[in-house]
Amino acid sequence: MKVDGIPYRTIWLKPGDARVVQIIDQTRLPHAFEVVDLHTVQDICSAIRDMTVRGAGLIGACAAYGMYLATLEAPESGFTDFMARAGAALKATRPTAANLAWAVDRMAQAINSGTAPDQQRTIAREAAQAIADEDTEYCRRIGVHGLPLIAALSRRKLGQTVNILTHCNAGWLAFVDGGSATAPIYAAHDADIPVHVWVDETRPRNQGASLTAWELGQHGVPHTLIADNAGGHLMQHGLVDMVITGADRVTRNGDVANKIGTYLKALAARDNEIPFYVALPSSTLDFSLHDGIANIPIEERDADEVRFMTGLTAAGTVECVRICPATTPARNWGFDVTPARLVTQLICERGLCAATEDAILSLFPEHR
Ligand code: MRU
Repeated sequence: MKVDGIPYRTIWLKPGDARVVQIIDQTRLPHAFEVVDLHTVQDICSAIRDMTVRGAGLIGACAAYGMYLATLEAPESGFTDFMARAGAALKATRPTAANLAWAVDRMAQAINSGTAPDQQRTIAREAAQAIADEDTEYCRRIGVHGLPLIAALSRRKLGQTVNILTHCNAGWLAFVDGGSATAPIYAAHDADIPVHVWVDETRPRNQGASLTAWELGQHGVPHTLIADNAGGHLMQHGLVDMVITGADRVTRNGDVANKIGTYLKALAARDNEIPFYVALPSSTLDFSLHDGIANIPIEERDADEVRFMTGLTAAGTVECVRICPATTPARNWGFDVTPARLVTQLICERGLCAATEDAILSLFPEHR
């Protein structure tokens, strides 16, 4: 995707110094665009934990590059132990998105296929690059498969604007490029189908307001920011034609963990007979789980994310303010689970499918 006309991915190796990983600092957006250097697996762990990088696909790719950096740090004697500890540390950073553990395991398997540290470093670099490239390609295919859904709605509306509601940021910032929920939207916009996106602000960290609104703006897609609580009202008044969200983990029966508040949007969509789509690459599927509500680990984050808000003052400085009484207790769950029965279809890199075990396994028969 382009930022001020310049093409970027969200993570890459520093040109001229492949021992350094570079990322876009998402905690600074939309007020500043800054690239940060990461030198060690510990830097990578901190970037994921602090949400300097976030989004299921990107934290998977970031963890993959973390494993590569770990191979550069690992001593010749004790290489295997160091790598095992690095993998465990990366997996412990954030619990909900399936992509993170998936990427660490895939990297470990690739690295273990080598026989000496030098060879393993080369393998790790190539494997991390392959994960990043695959993430980009899968998002592109999600766009290809999702585009006809928007095109059909556009035809049904005789070419009038298709209004799409999305929650959180499942855009290119949440992946290496392209995004999941946004991929069909970008594809429709690029195909000159008139689209407009309702962007949920997505409290408490406001990924919709600060990230989705920013990246849609960079791509020139018409959009409007709304309070998290507005979606149901818009649906009742015919102002939403479809919902597309991303996912952080989807079980083999189609239950969807995504940013907190997604479930409420799915309930409102069902009540108003509005299609609710979930876009995801296969790295987000967790074939080991059968029950999302019972089994998906839900991250609980620092309550201060609820008690405080950060924004740009009129003087042009970024400041953090408390929005509740000083002693008010708060809780901060990062994700919720939307039961499969509320999901119209999944949009994956291999195509569309119902959110059922049979349909998912028809697309991914190797997991039968
Ligand atoms: O806490 P985050 O920002 O890492 O949450 C991830 C998300 O952005 C959303 O849940 C998103 O819809 C899925 S990630 C592709």
